[in-house]
Amino acid sequence: MQKVLKGRSSTFILILFIPFLITGCAGGQLGKQSSKEFRNGMVVSAREEASQVGIDILKKGGNAVDAAVAVQFALAVVYPNAGNLGGGGFMVYRSAKGETNSLDFREKAPAAASRNMYLDSLGQPIVDKSLYGTLAAGVPGSVAGMYEAHQKYGKLKWADLIEPSVLLAQHGFKVTEKQAKELNELHDDFSRLNPLGTALIKEGTWQAGEKMVQAELAQTLIQIRDHGRDGFYQGTVADAVVAEMQRTGGIITKQDLQNYKAIWRKPIIGQYRGYKVITMPPPSSGGIALLQLLGSVEGYPLKKWGHNADSTVQLMVEAERRTYADRAAHLGDPDFYKVPQKHLMESSYLKQRMSNFSWAKATLSSAIGAGVMPPAEHEETTHFSIVDREGNSVSLTTTLNGSYGALVAVKGAGFLLNNEMDDFSVKPGAPNMYGLVGGEANAIQPDKRMLSSMTPAILEKEGDLFMVVGTPGGSTIMTSVFQTILNVIDFDMSMQAAVNAKKFHHQWLPDVVQVEEGALDSVTRVKLESKGYPIKVRGPIGRVDAILKNKWGYYQAGADPRGDDKAVGW
Ligand code: DON
Repeated sequence: MQKVLKGRSSTFILILFIPFLITGCAGGQLGKQSSKEFRNGMVVSAREEASQVGIDILKKGGNAVDAAVAVQFALAVVYPNAGNLGGGGFMVYRSAKGETNSLDFREKAPAAASRNMYLDSLGQPIVDKSLYGTLAAGVPGSVAGMYEAHQKYGKLKWADLIEPSVLLAQHGFKVTEKQAKELNELHDDFSRLNPLGTALIKEGTWQAGEKMVQAELAQTLIQIRDHGRDGFYQGTVADAVVAEMQRTGGIITKQDLQNYKAIWRKPIIGQYRGYKVITMPPPSSGGIALLQLLGSVEGYPLKKWGHNADSTVQLMVEAERRTYADRAAHLGDPDFYKVPQKHLMESSYLKQRMSNFSWAKATLSSAIGAGVMPPAEHEETTHFSIVDREGNSVSLTTTLNGSYGALVAVKGAGFLLNNEMDDFSVKPGAPNMYGLVGGEANAIQPDKRMLSSMTPAILEKEGDLFMVVGTPGGSTIMTSVFQTILNVIDFDMSMQAAVNAKKFHHQWLPDVVQVEEGALDSVTRVKLESKGYPIKVRGPIGRVDAILKNKWGYYQAGADPRGDDKAVGW
């Protein structure tokens, strides 16, 4: 017997399967074994409808990869801010037996891209050019990625994984309050960049609970359902992409689309306090950064100091400063740039990096490097975590980069294009929309993948699955995953409490500790400020969606209350 624990229950899918819903409710401190824990599987994603699609696939006998494919497509419909067909991402996989793999379906620069394509005649970045419109888009990777994942690990038929999304696009989904607000705020930009119209704009304003029907997107999904990856990279959908490019000055060609390949890569594997951490290698910087961060703090008694105590925060901030400085200099697409991966994660290197840190006062970032950061703009990526009945798990982060990507929906195909080209270093030292700087390693080159911060991760304890974790948040991704892991391992929090806990972030440049309201008590804040740590309160950090396996073998979820995220288990 299934029962609804909490949440809206009005989608047509819910009529078919009244689910166990676990919300990311504020303060939800789940016990180590509670009625919100499940044995057979769990899906945690940015939207209830997508989590439900995933759990339905698991119940039909699909495995975690089948569910991941279905969730990725469902999010492209019900979470157009970041769920996507026109973007890319990374997937980390662990089978129940412990086999691991990772899939890179990151976008890449079109063949006609060039190093200085976003600079003016004086060599200065034209910021909007890498952020809005078709020129900001990299060659999309998501459909190729999902197809590749399914080819290798899928159990159910491909078409059955896409069908729920076709229905969601055809019948519509209910926009949430947050989505209605964002869509209304972006109305004028969408109108300007989509003169031929898009389902994202309507006369008047969007209201929470109103249905969004996406007829063009449904047609694209039908092409993908019936023709696999070719339904996207060839045929009418590819024609529509190229026509959009030609109408608006974009540079993605048919050849670019046909040539796109998702790549299986050897995951990054490291240890933290006896837990095995399996995560994403370059072209994401996330995995290396996560292991650098964990390795830099492992020798210290965080548990004794306590969560967000001044010593804990100080140590973590100093580790973050050094890690992000390394990211800027050393990380890029490994197919174009030799990343010193092994060296960056060696414990002797990390010890040496931390050796000039002083408890008496903050290290200055200028002593490590230099740069500036503009305020972060609207940002949106999305992460989901899945475990199936056998214990196979998927940790997948996917993005259009900014919220709604380049703000261009391909006319006739109904999906949004990414603005991922902004993740390249458009000019050495010039900050991207997350304030991240870079240089040669991440310079634009034809067919190169732009550096990412996405950090899907899976943890093992004594050879068994322990945690599936990841988050959106641009440059804050690695520090959010880092804190979530520490919250569970060092500070004994439940999965939901670890996700809910207030976070802080330092990224080397600008030299400031960004904190969520309430992350630090006033005494801690004063202590840190007196040592020279500038502190700036900001909006929400991260939207972690994670799963923890407890010692009795039950799965408990953490669905981030900062978004509309939902977990569904069975
Ligand atoms: O790949 C990256 O690092 C960025 N494009 C991710 C963007 C992101 O997380 C926005 N989210 N909130």
